[in-house]
Amino acid sequence: MEQTEVMKPETLDDLIKVLHKIFESDNINVEEVQNIMEAYDSNPQEWMKFAKFDQFRYTRNLVDEGNGKFNLMILCWGEGHGSSIHDHTDSHCFMKLLQGQLKETLFEWPDKKTCNMVQKSQRILQTNQCAYINDSFGLHRVENASHTECSASLHLYSPPFNTCQTFDQRTGHKNTVKMTFWSKFGERTPFETTVSQENN
Ligand SMILES: [Fe+2]
Repeated sequence: MEQTEVMKPETLDDLIKVLHKIFESDNINVEEVQNIMEAYDSNPQEWMKFAKFDQFRYTRNLVDEGNGKFNLMILCWGEGHGSSIHDHTDSHCFMKLLQGQLKETLFEWPDKKTCNMVQKSQRILQTNQCAYINDSFGLHRVENASHTECSASLHLYSPPFNTCQTFDQRTGHKNTVKMTFWSKFGERTPFETTVSQENN
């Protein structure tokens, strides 16, 4: 097989430009995207303006809308913050560590009859590593297991989506949840209540 040379994006802006180029095509080479994202050396000065932490839970902060082909966002994880077990709505999901570590636990889709959640594997992602998942891999939970350090990760979802399914680890029961952004392009997103009031 032909070896594709990985272009090293020097800055976050560079990385975004390359991603726009790659996603012009409808055929996405997962390994290529993963390699490019991994090749970017995280520089906090470049992404700090997007990284907004909350005291109580992890936040989703939109960085770029990828010409409608993908959403690029930074997730900020305080100490001990974690996601629920969730799917990826038939999209590609790339997750690159910008700072700290994250623990990823993979699960099988729950058995239709017993609803049992079976854990498949677990790993620790280190700074600059880029993981990939889609629904054919199963489900996952992502956590910052550290009690002393926060983490930040860069996520690319293609095609973009704003609902996913979450799963109760004990019962396997699922819920459809709407996902919101804590901030967009570095600006705090108005609260939902403010938005609905404006619509009245
Ligand atoms: Fe995920």
